[in-house]
Amino acid sequence: MKGILLAGGNGTRLKPLTNLISKQLLPIYDKPLIFYSLSVLMLAGVREIAIVTKADQQPFFESLLGNGSNFGISITYFVQEKPEGISQAFLICREFIMNQPVMLVLGDNIFYGPGFGTSLEQMKTISGAQIFAIKVDDPSQYGVVEINSDGMIIEIVEKPLESKSKLAIPGMYFFDSSVTSRAEKLTKSDRGEFEITSLIETYQKDNSLKLNILPRGTTWFDCGTVNSMCDASSYVRVIEEKQGLKIGCIEEIAWRNGWISHEMLSEIVDKYRESEYGNYLMKITEE
Ligand code: G1P
Repeated sequence: MKGILLAGGNGTRLKPLTNLISKQLLPIYDKPLIFYSLSVLMLAGVREIAIVTKADQQPFFESLLGNGSNFGISITYFVQEKPEGISQAFLICREFIMNQPVMLVLGDNIFYGPGFGTSLEQMKTISGAQIFAIKVDDPSQYGVVEINSDGMIIEIVEKPLESKSKLAIPGMYFFDSSVTSRAEKLTKSDRGEFEITSLIETYQKDNSLKLNILPRGTTWFDCGTVNSMCDASSYVRVIEEKQGLKIGCIEEIAWRNGWISHEMLSEIVDKYRESEYGNYLMKITEE
């Protein structure tokens, strides 16, 4: 299974923070926002990852993450010239996908919950598409799924002004190998985007869409606004301080997965020696 991490967009709701730098590179407490979505791909066991960015931002992402070898993964970078929707990522990454199933994660989403990462491993052999839903108080900013009393999907709507459903679709999706040919046939929405919800609907029409409602207690942030970034930072800080464990620590995940050696982790510790992040990694090497 291939992974796509979408980190394009102009971050208009975050300006002037995003005048110079993409939102996915901004900090959420002690690490760049992109670490959290990258960690979700890694927890799902995905090691071949495409990162899609704006053209002028690509060098920054590359100097942060390189070719991925420090984290036991392989990263290929692609450019999204204009932010024309999430589904465009499949066209941009066509050559990378090579007719394989794909896990797509949005670079501004953060997920956290018991057993969350490991439960994703079983998606590797997907047929059709798998989406998730999580209950939110105000679903108007998200893709929304409406279900009937039997849990069957009735409708999927992008950012509804009014909705009977409070089930938002977070930015993590699994698609089978037909995803690229489906994305090729999409047309733009009224707001000029190739919507992810339009792509999902093609699977719904074929009866090959699965929905997993994430259990109460799962935490999800879409860091598209200043407030959500502040909320996420506070949340990560509280959890990390209470538990003494980090959320979205990609070096730790790589090491626990056996993707990098103890020696490699020690080299990274040396590089970060002065920071609290480095101290944490050092504690882990001493486990
Ligand atoms: C996008 C998608 C939406 C999804 C959301 C999750 O919206 O279009 O369906 O629910 O991400 O973060 P955006 O936040 O890009 O406006």
